[in-house]
Amino acid sequence: MHARATTSWPCPDGRPLLGANGTEAMTALLAQDDGRPGAGHQAQALVDYMKVGPFMGREAIGALAREYPLLLHLDDTLSGDAPLSEETLARIEGWVRLSGTPWTSAHIGFAVADVTLDQALISQPLSQVLGRERALGNIVRNATQLARRLPVPLLLENLPLFPNAAHLLICEPDFVSDALEATGCDLLLDLAHAQVSADILGYEVHDYISRLPLNRVRELHLSGPRPLGEIDPQRQAIILDNARTVAEHLSFDEESLVDAHGSLRDVDYALLEWTLARTRPWAISLEYFRDPDALRSQLLRLAHIIGRSTTPAC
Ligand SMILES: [Fe+2]
Repeated sequence: MHARATTSWPCPDGRPLLGANGTEAMTALLAQDDGRPGAGHQAQALVDYMKVGPFMGREAIGALAREYPLLLHLDDTLSGDAPLSEETLARIEGWVRLSGTPWTSAHIGFAVADVTLDQALISQPLSQVLGRERALGNIVRNATQLARRLPVPLLLENLPLFPNAAHLLICEPDFVSDALEATGCDLLLDLAHAQVSADILGYEVHDYISRLPLNRVRELHLSGPRPLGEIDPQRQAIILDNARTVAEHLSFDEESLVDAHGSLRDVDYALLEWTLARTRPWAISLEYFRDPDALRSQLLRLAHIIGRSTTPAC
């Protein structure tokens, strides 16, 4: 692991490190715990690190970096038709240095070129879909270029199959495996994304995950997916509009899973335990960020599962 400049990273004592999104709810929770009798330093109380992204801004990340070990998750798109510009590479390198992250990660990329994360959630004509070879070629070229430039390892994250053109091809387990193989990058396995993609592509979820290179999993992301019928009606309508544009390729209905960043349910904890029996991740990031009490209880249950105590490991 690379040393950070301001706050030192805890040593993993054979177990994965545990982290959560660096939201206001999380910092408030940690500050609360710091004042509790018997609580250690806040960074040891509930999590080992905070997960941050460039969308939070330089000031917020700089301030958090003075208090906590940070793990940086990027929001750039790697499937663009052109190589990454010098400006993009320098900007990302700047985020890595500011955060002091020991490794970083990016979404694997989309089946259409040059979309942002937000644009990827808007329906686009099927004519925009890159062929498998071109999508894979773009992603491999851009990810390799970025990995070579960064002073820390770059992981690629599997995406959830949101039902539109941008998400065709790239959620297939073979596509993810081929991208990792060709880039030499390791895997950030998002279990919620895997559940969603497996559900819509018609794989049993353990079968889907088993098709990925599990020996290359370095980080896990966790949150609770939900069936479409359980989420906010306005968002349901947007997703169904998208699904209509790819109806000839994917069957999608009220029961289909969506990436909802809900709280973890028993089925999610069971999938985590199954995955931990087959992988050796360096870190587990909980991506739930809403209610502080629910956040705390999930982190405590996760700590129990991975055998984490609240005293410093080293
Ligand atoms: Fe994720």
